[in-house]
Amino acid sequence: MAKARVQYRCQECGYELAKWAGRCPSCQNWNSIVEEPVSVLQKKEQRSPSSARAVPITQVEREAFARYETGIGELDRVLGGGIVPASLILVGGDPGVGKSTLLMQAACQVSGKGKVLYVSGEESKEQLRLRAERLGTLSENLLVLAENELENIIAQIEEEPPLLVIMDSIQTIYSSQLSSAPGSVGQVRECTAQLLYLAKGRQLPIILVGHITKAGGLAGPKVLEHMVDAVLYFEGSMEESYRVLRAVKNRFGSTDEIGVFAMGTEGLSEVENPSEFFLAQRPKNAAGSVVVATMEGSRPLLVEVQALVGPTAFGGIPRRQASGLDHNRVSTILAVLERRVGLHIGAHDVYMNAVGGLRLGEPAVDLGIAVALASSFKNRPVSSGLIVIGEVGLTGEVRAVRDIERRVAEAARLGFGKCLLPHHNLRSLTKRNLEVELLPVKTAQEALALTVA
Ligand SMILES: Nc1ncnc2c1ncn2[C@@H]1O[C@H](COP(=O)(O)OP(=O)(O)O)[C@@H](O)[C@H]1O
Ligand SMILES: [Mg+2]
Ligand SMILES: [Zn+2]
Repeated sequence: MAKARVQYRCQECGYELAKWAGRCPSCQNWNSIVEEPVSVLQKKEQRSPSSARAVPITQVEREAFARYETGIGELDRVLGGGIVPASLILVGGDPGVGKSTLLMQAACQVSGKGKVLYVSGEESKEQLRLRAERLGTLSENLLVLAENELENIIAQIEEEPPLLVIMDSIQTIYSSQLSSAPGSVGQVRECTAQLLYLAKGRQLPIILVGHITKAGGLAGPKVLEHMVDAVLYFEGSMEESYRVLRAVKNRFGSTDEIGVFAMGTEGLSEVENPSEFFLAQRPKNAAGSVVVATMEGSRPLLVEVQALVGPTAFGGIPRRQASGLDHNRVSTILAVLERRVGLHIGAHDVYMNAVGGLRLGEPAVDLGIAVALASSFKNRPVSSGLIVIGEVGLTGEVRAVRDIERRVAEAARLGFGKCLLPHHNLRSLTKRNLEVELLPVKTAQEALALTVA
């Protein structure tokens, strides 16, 4: 038998070395290199399996992934229509956001179709039962296992193969083949690799819960995100009840879709009308508040954008803060307002916010940002039945946006009477029977003249 080989790995960045070093040559961290045995699986991976033979692409059978729905519509939407067998899915989010709640609810739904194994490395079986009772999700087909050792978990899966496995969380699982602590780069990587092997080999979908670091990334090596088929983030502020699930990677679907939930004492409920939800607390006749229409995947979403503009204290540096909006876009729009529209906003503090904790990265919200800024600056509220759509260019021109019909239709559905939109979009707007008055504009200046003059 060969001597057990060891290698060295940086616990900060995952860099591999043949020899120990005091400082990682990759990320320059000190004392981050630790010894690790080369795992059995990695050796297995290095050998090419005998079945690996190249075939003409035309002879590859068209595999209709037999997706199955979890029964939680908003989760299925983000997954691209349900769970694909053999897929490894990572769900990340801040502590307390509701990852365990969501997955317990999903586990219960799926247990209507077959056995589901919920493995928790963080909670006891009793705690899991308490949660399931509170959520009203008790089921004979929902098996729970409070375990941290990967080998025991795999043994359980092989003994009684379920339809779905949920692993809460990957940072609390360890493989006994490694001596490093659970949550270390080596452990997370090794456990994920073994689970990937299991998922692919047994056509078994596995959902992993991942912790998030203070910086907002998934804790653990970056390779984790490369290894899995889909990465979903569960987000939301703790003060409010809504939660947004979004895909940042999905090998089996688009990454544009979001799922919206509301957290209550009985768990998460799906929000089928997110526009209504996000506009529910909108103030009436408040300067600086504007409703924009953004697209989240195939779904139009109406969201309130708020601006607060006030003179900077004498001698101070103007403050610029934007939450939920792209900082660079807000700066660009401020420059356009200053230089092209003649709004002297430069010596003012500017705070901007997309209400509801959503992140609006789309250029189609530019014009809404511009109108909100001007509205606050001039202290003139815009008409409450107005919706604003359009991208703003550097010369102050208002540019056409995609999916104009869907956006306008959503505005009509929610009873908005007026829509400020790019002139260039008029032609593509064929459904003229909408009960919305269209206000086409070519420049930001025109837009401000129509709204906050
Ligand atoms: N016993 C309870 N009663 C009511 N709400 C609870 C209870 N336990 C947890 N919650 C709510 O569920 C939220 C999410 O919990 P959890 O799903 O465990 O989050 P995560 O797994 O993301 O850390 C908590 O922040 C809290 O608002
Ligand atoms: Mg949890
Ligand atoms: Zn490093």
